[in-house]
Amino acid sequence: MATNRTFTMIKPDAVANGHTGAILNDIINGGFKIVAMKYIQLSEVNAGKFYEVHKERPFYGDLVNFMTSGPIVAAILEKDNAVEDFRTLIGATDPSKAAEGTIRNKYAKSIDANAIHGSDSNENAEIEGSFFFSQFERY
Ligand code: RTP
Ligand code: MG
Repeated sequence: MATNRTFTMIKPDAVANGHTGAILNDIINGGFKIVAMKYIQLSEVNAGKFYEVHKERPFYGDLVNFMTSGPIVAAILEKDNAVEDFRTLIGATDPSKAAEGTIRNKYAKSIDANAIHGSDSNENAEIEGSFFFSQFERY
């Protein structure tokens, strides 16, 4: 994957609270093009694999439980400087620290239920996008 792509998930809290449309609107208005997208519910095995890097962290179990609690929207997004610009658009992990107008500031309730995921590097964007999407599902 080119370095102008990132990967996102609209998390179960934001989907359940009816924010999917508003968040997609913010993403598109932020200049991101949708390359791939799907609406699915993660299994415990798949959520565990996705967050494997956090396996030893105290919040890992809660994170996996939360991410499997309902459907999510997963997507690959394209824009110049996609990874960094998308992290700016979503705001800090803890929504109480997220800048005004960011997606987490507007739609997230807590550090666990924080509305959205964004890849933290080009390498992880490629790994995460490929975890969800084949080459034939990217446009
Ligand atoms: P994400 O991967 O979901 O985009 O979030 P992030 O990069 O901003 O944060 P990361 O450090 O990758 O953590 C992944 C998710 O784990 C939960 N978390 N809880 N209780 C805690 O201290 C804590 N720290 C992280 C968050 O839900 C975070 O999104
Ligand atoms: Mg992260």
